[in-house]
Amino acid sequence: MNDLEIQRRVRELEPWVNDFVYNGVRYATASTRDYLLSQPPQDRADAFFGAFPQAKRVLELGALEGADTLAMAGQPGVEILALEGREENLRRAEFVMELHGVSNVELRLVDVESMDFAALGHFDATLCAGLLYHVQRPWELLADIGSVSDCLYLSTHYWGSSEGLDVVDGYAFHPVREDHPEPQARGLSVDVRWLDRPSLMRALERAGFTDVEVLQERVTPEVCNIVTAARKPGVPRP
Ligand SMILES: C[S@@+](CC[C@H](N)C(=O)[O-])C[C@H]1O[C@@H](n2cnc3c(N)ncnc32)[C@H](O)[C@@H]1O
Repeated sequence: MNDLEIQRRVRELEPWVNDFVYNGVRYATASTRDYLLSQPPQDRADAFFGAFPQAKRVLELGALEGADTLAMAGQPGVEILALEGREENLRRAEFVMELHGVSNVELRLVDVESMDFAALGHFDATLCAGLLYHVQRPWELLADIGSVSDCLYLSTHYWGSSEGLDVVDGYAFHPVREDHPEPQARGLSVDVRWLDRPSLMRALERAGFTDVEVLQERVTPEVCNIVTAARKPGVPRP
């Protein structure tokens, strides 16, 4: 595909959330940039495979425009199933894969809050970045992931205070009305729940991830960030 053809396809798929680079040229530069990737995709892919070097069959949740998908697809011997809930995001991700000649990725349009995880099969590891705090029942999403995957690379917000929280199913959370500045990066649900740290850790453990390695964390009284490499019993740390 030549430069003019790429520019035409990029325009057809607008508006983009993020720009991307192909053959040294930056495309989709009219992207709103209201949503910035929280970690450069190659850094995240390196951290993912650094944590789970045995991972060959990989599940990705909330793939957006495929930036992380593309970076992970470069790992030799890997097959990726990437799920995304917004069709327009999925179309842009498909184009990015087509442009780069990626053949080890399957992209699928699904709502991870209502899909049947059992039908997906088994995965060595899952990437769940920027999604857990966009769902209504985050503990159920973690249990679903645990039902199909031995390892989980989780990058999420949690709520920093344990005061005045609501409780459902034994999990304490701060109720949040979705207002992410970038509409295409929001959850499919409007009212979502941000777990506090003890509830997040309990949900991970109940999902089967008994070894939770904290790779990064930023603690504040309210909006906190955490990145973990979580493993089931018997999966060694590298
Ligand atoms: C904040 S973005 C994170 C994108 C990317 N994973 C990252 O870390 O940069 C959330 C993504 O998850 C998708 N998403 C939100 N709720 C979803 C759901 N219930 N099922 C599937 N995808 C969902 C959004 O459309 C968006 O692409």
